[in-house]
Amino acid sequence: METNEQGYTSLNDRFLEELGLIKNTAELITLRARYIGKNGYVTAALKTLVGLPPELRGNVGRLINEDKNLITSALKEKEEELKKLEISRKITSSKIDITLPGYYKKAGGRHPVSIVMREVIDVFVSMGFSIEDGPEVETDYYNFEALNMPKDHPARDMQDTFYINTDYVNTGTPSAHNAGNTEGDVLLRTHTSAVQIRVMQREVAKSKEMQRSAPPLRFIAPGKVYRRDSDITHTPLFHQIEGLMVDTDISFANLKAVLEGFLQLVFDRRLPVRFRPSFFPFTEPSTEVDIGCFFCKQTGCRICKGTGWIEILGAGMVNPKVFQMVGYDPEHYCGFAFGMGIERITMLKYGIDDIRLFYEGDLRFLRQF
Ligand code: DAH
Repeated sequence: METNEQGYTSLNDRFLEELGLIKNTAELITLRARYIGKNGYVTAALKTLVGLPPELRGNVGRLINEDKNLITSALKEKEEELKKLEISRKITSSKIDITLPGYYKKAGGRHPVSIVMREVIDVFVSMGFSIEDGPEVETDYYNFEALNMPKDHPARDMQDTFYINTDYVNTGTPSAHNAGNTEGDVLLRTHTSAVQIRVMQREVAKSKEMQRSAPPLRFIAPGKVYRRDSDITHTPLFHQIEGLMVDTDISFANLKAVLEGFLQLVFDRRLPVRFRPSFFPFTEPSTEVDIGCFFCKQTGCRICKGTGWIEILGAGMVNPKVFQMVGYDPEHYCGFAFGMGIERITMLKYGIDDIRLFYEGDLRFLRQF
């Protein structure tokens, strides 16, 4: 350490000169260590104090401390200056253009068929119906046989069926003898009516176990169904809601009340409703239910094909043969069933004339709901 005649040469000039050359925080840290660190010049200078004549010590000590304070505050100032500089360097060098518009995610929406499905379910739930479910891959028995449609029944022709080649399912490859076989026992359900059978069977089994009579039922079964159909009013996959109400004293009047009430609620207006005699193997008597065409106020238009009426669902009193198949005593129980297509209701509610729009995934169409 240099000393003058007083025993100490100020470190200031040297320090300030070195400080002027500092370009970044890392250099600053080394400089700080060299001057005011444990082994730095300032500490070394303080250590020389003991070797000085006592009359100089006070003065020199004070000078060293003044230097130390000055160096410390100069370092601090420089540190802050460097930090600011580094931040602004980072900002100017990074590639972010903060004037660009931000990214945003478009919100998804419900599909119109889902919207109407929920509305229909809500109406029946408000009437006390519970919700049941069944498999989409069904057996011939639940889809046809138990609904009073034996193998040779002509009513099967009303529903063009996708049969599943079970040979293919079991082995992963279609075998020669089974390729093209359309008479398998496994199929894609053609209607949700199959759920009627499954639920009644389940309840009969439960009640036998508990040694009491089969319970009254009031449920709907919403879900997907499949048919070999494709045109402007048919798609191979579509949605239905099935309904079943069973008790000891259910009449056609109950059927009418429930379905009329449902139609007013779901179409949100007072509508003329007409019950037309029809045929379904699983109901007797059977009916098809029409609503007055609200597009033309029943004067006749393209949508009602000039009749003033629009067919909306099928229904009827449960055929005693069906009760027999599932083990509900037909002498004791009666009930009504109904089934409807959700796409059809959606098309009417929104005035859509081509069912295929639902399944083309065109966002210009879907964003309207
Ligand atoms: N399953 C019939 C169909 O898909 C609709 C139907 C008609 C269901 C009458 C019923 C019913 O429960 O009683 O065409």
